[in-house]
Amino acid sequence: MLKPEFWKGKKVFVTGHTGFKGSWLCLWLEQLGAKVTGYALDPPSNPSLFEMAGIARTVDSHRGDVTDRAAMEKVLVAASPDIVIHMAAQSLVRYSYDNPVETFSTNVMGTVNVLDIAHRVPTIKAVVIVTSDKCYHNVEWVWGYRETDRLGGHDPYSGSKGAAELVVQAFQSSFYGKEKGIAAVGSARAGNVIGGGDWALDRLVPDIVRSLLKNEPTLIRNPQATRPWQHVLEPLHGYLMLAERLYTDGHEFASGWNFGPPESSEKTVGWIIEQLYELWGVTFPWTRDLNPGPPECTFLKLDASKAHAHLGWRPKLDLPTTLDWIVKWTRRYEAGDDMRKVSNADIERFMSLKPHA
Ligand SMILES: NC(=O)c1ccc[n+]([C@@H]2O[C@H](COP(=O)([O-])OP(=O)(O)OC[C@H]3O[C@@H](n4cnc5c(N)ncnc54)[C@H](O)[C@@H]3O)[C@@H](O)[C@H]2O)c1
Repeated sequence: MLKPEFWKGKKVFVTGHTGFKGSWLCLWLEQLGAKVTGYALDPPSNPSLFEMAGIARTVDSHRGDVTDRAAMEKVLVAASPDIVIHMAAQSLVRYSYDNPVETFSTNVMGTVNVLDIAHRVPTIKAVVIVTSDKCYHNVEWVWGYRETDRLGGHDPYSGSKGAAELVVQAFQSSFYGKEKGIAAVGSARAGNVIGGGDWALDRLVPDIVRSLLKNEPTLIRNPQATRPWQHVLEPLHGYLMLAERLYTDGHEFASGWNFGPPESSEKTVGWIIEQLYELWGVTFPWTRDLNPGPPECTFLKLDASKAHAHLGWRPKLDLPTTLDWIVKWTRRYEAGDDMRKVSNADIERFMSLKPHA
């Protein structure tokens, strides 16, 4: 389990704090009593959880590009953090087909820059690099990928995340490590993260939420595609647990970690939309989008045995509860409630739960 007392007063540098996962992470870290410095471009969507939860009111928030090494170094050195969590990325698969150079530049060189700066900052003891389940070479098999499986990627986004993993390995063995007495680096792989506050384009749940709020049918591309879905707080819980262990136990945790949901969370896109429509109380049918778009992998799941065994990380929310939380969060947003309070209440409730699987 996460140790709340560990985080009290810790200085944490978060990249990508204006994004979906970054905003939730900032709220969580604040609740734990950490002091957060954020570095990212503008929020990638409008609306955004970053704006609606007023993250900049309490986080030392800096706007900057991770490909601008000098600008990021200035902020990181001034922050002199204990822990770095690197999440800034061009995070969309479809967008990456149209913008491969930007995707590789941000996701690969951004990671190079973070790691190249961080090993020179003496206060830093732990670095978590967030990549993706898509970092694996997808051979379309039915088994979950293990951390030791081959890296790869058939599209620019996935390739950039596989490449970011190679960057982590090279920096870990060249510039970090026990013998050098400096920070330990771990990489975190998760995917198909869903939750209130995601407004990204071309992601299933945001597409559904947008259409529900407009009372219009959702356009669905691949209703038969199966994905392992998980609430955003699940992988964030994993990143925090990993950071804790990297900080306290060091280099034995310096490797890749999968944070994937249990098999019961593997459901089709069609199943997800039907559940969300039912919870929202919608009676009209969704619509099939006949434009298939660029190719998408059919199935990819993670084997999270290593995180279960060595970090003690386990999922807490089953999929029906996850969808219920999303609908309740969105109803509160629709009602104009204070979304900082609503999101903080979800985090508190999540922390109080026991692992379910
Ligand atoms: N959401 C998911 O389902 C999912 C799944 C697997 C992995 N991930 C990974 O988790 C991380 C966070 O994802 P998210 O869903 O919050 O993404 P997001 O798109 O909501 O946020 C991305 C963040 O990165 C920042 N950013 C983008 N390009 C940047 C640049 N060049 N310089 C500085 N900042 C930049 C944005 O401003 C934003 O703060 C990413 O690394 C993403 O690849 C997400």
